[in-house]
Amino acid sequence: MCGIVGYVGPNDTVDVLISGLRRLEYRGYDSAGIAVLDSSGEVAVRKRSGKLVRLEELLEASPVAAGSTGIGHTRWATHGGPTDQNAHPHLGDDGRLALIHNGIVENFAELRSEVDAAGIELLSETDTEVVAALLGIEVARLGDLETAFRSVVARLEGTFTLLAMHRDEPGKVVSARHHSPLVVGLGEGENFLGSDVAAFVGFTQRAVAVDEDNIAIITADEVRITDFAGNPVAFTEYEVAWDAAAADKGGWSSFMAKEITEQPEAVANTVRGRLVDGHVEIPELTALGDDLLREIDRIVIIACGTASYAGMIGTYAIEQWARVPVEVQLSHEFRYRDPVLSDRTLLISVSQSGETMDTLMAVKYAIERGVTTVSVCNTQSATIPRESDAAVYTHAGPEVAVASTKAFVAQITALYLIGLHLGRVRGTLSGDDARRAAEQLEELPGLLGEAVDTHDQIAQLAHWMADTRSVLFLGRHVGYPTALEGALKLKEIAYIHAEGFAAGELKHGPIALIDHGQPVFVLVPSPRTSPLMHSKVVSNIQEIRARGARVIAIVEKGDTSVLPFADDVIRLPLTDVLFEPLLQVIPLQWFALELSAAKGLDVDQPRNLAKSVTVE
Ligand code: F6R
Repeated sequence: MCGIVGYVGPNDTVDVLISGLRRLEYRGYDSAGIAVLDSSGEVAVRKRSGKLVRLEELLEASPVAAGSTGIGHTRWATHGGPTDQNAHPHLGDDGRLALIHNGIVENFAELRSEVDAAGIELLSETDTEVVAALLGIEVARLGDLETAFRSVVARLEGTFTLLAMHRDEPGKVVSARHHSPLVVGLGEGENFLGSDVAAFVGFTQRAVAVDEDNIAIITADEVRITDFAGNPVAFTEYEVAWDAAAADKGGWSSFMAKEITEQPEAVANTVRGRLVDGHVEIPELTALGDDLLREIDRIVIIACGTASYAGMIGTYAIEQWARVPVEVQLSHEFRYRDPVLSDRTLLISVSQSGETMDTLMAVKYAIERGVTTVSVCNTQSATIPRESDAAVYTHAGPEVAVASTKAFVAQITALYLIGLHLGRVRGTLSGDDARRAAEQLEELPGLLGEAVDTHDQIAQLAHWMADTRSVLFLGRHVGYPTALEGALKLKEIAYIHAEGFAAGELKHGPIALIDHGQPVFVLVPSPRTSPLMHSKVVSNIQEIRARGARVIAIVEKGDTSVLPFADDVIRLPLTDVLFEPLLQVIPLQWFALELSAAKGLDVDQPRNLAKSVTVE
């Protein structure tokens, strides 16, 4: 939450900051602002509530003469509403320094009394302005930005990434992180800071992940990293695998539309290199040691939101192939329930961003209790994979739309690969099952392509249903978490009441919701591979149809059994039951997108949300 960018170099600083903020806007879009040292050497600030475009309008009306040092921020409001005053940057030292912040400073009230005692008047309701004011006091006391910055960050409690610059030290930006992300981008004669590599991927592919409780100082020619006490810290750079084009809309009406169509590739890239001679081999798991993988007696998957539904789907496959009990817990519930953990528990976290604070805290909790941790993550060198014992990256490419799509199918794929790897190592996976699963994994991208082609049919459906106020989703087995995901997508981007149910649960209460015309999406399992489940779901369809539901059935091609009871039928290619969610979710994603668009909403940036949730 909140996107942060910093720059020192010869290029037009305002342009560099705005282009970084454009790529980071998915992290928060309540307000945006920049501070640059302008050509007269003063700190010039432009900031505005609302989306980035409002800041761009302000800059057009009131341009800043380009300087060589700057910081920029896009905000997801925590302390203080999304107003112009509360937007970052905030100033200290009588306007001589500017500071931006991602996170929450928990001891801000105590720090504020110091600021009040110094007679400094604050203009906003934010915790960040208190830190800026304190930094100003410390610069005056200690004489330079770096020493003052170290003194301030050591006193902060909570979570933060902070970037600051000072008029008297042009050509320098200082930054620090504590439970919030920070990366450095290395250029030629210029350097960058960002909450993630999207901040600078248009300018350089070379990056350094800043470790927890470290300070990074950039000038145009130098990057230095120290701990909070000022001791130098060695660092290694890595090559960013994403290019700038991958993070652009590329002619699509929305990032979400582009990302839905990228799902075949996301799955293919996640499988690539991990399927060797018909069996799954994940080197990152091999490095943990086969004995450890054989001895685990329980797997706990932790995740939030869409990632947790991927986790739920993963439980069916991992249990089936690796014969070990698997459960999913929401990250934010996990550590409060005193979970039963042992050295034979394997904890798998699932996170697209790798920065979700709830999940990170749950991973840390498990690590402290000696549990082996594996991270399924889409973001190279993010905090969660770096903290974990092993990282199994999904290779979905940058996901910019707030509503997760391609990361979801890549997460399911990665969990399936983990299940197949464990099944092989533990000797619980039959040769036939291994071969069959390998074939399915290879076929999947093509099948997903066909599922993407349901768009036009779904768009028409959404058009007719634009006034719908409530939609229900039903599924059984892996179709149940898929139903939950369909409902979440609709709530998230179309602001429509939606609920997902296990089809068998309906008669235990929710069927009372069914009234004349109530739209219900039903995920119908394959009659070939799951005849029993199929017949039960067809019965469920009859039950709701008899009570007036409008049934939209998602079925395997060739399944005609539901035709007499369905108002609309969406046909998907044939696959085995475990792989059905990867196909079934696609029409549900299209439906949410088209309904959101039909209502004139912002598909990529739904209200109140941000992509990377770095507060608890
Ligand atoms: C919904 C969505 C969220 C995320 C959740 C976890 O479309 O994207 O529910 O899945 O916030 O985020 P990550 O995967 O980054 O940990």
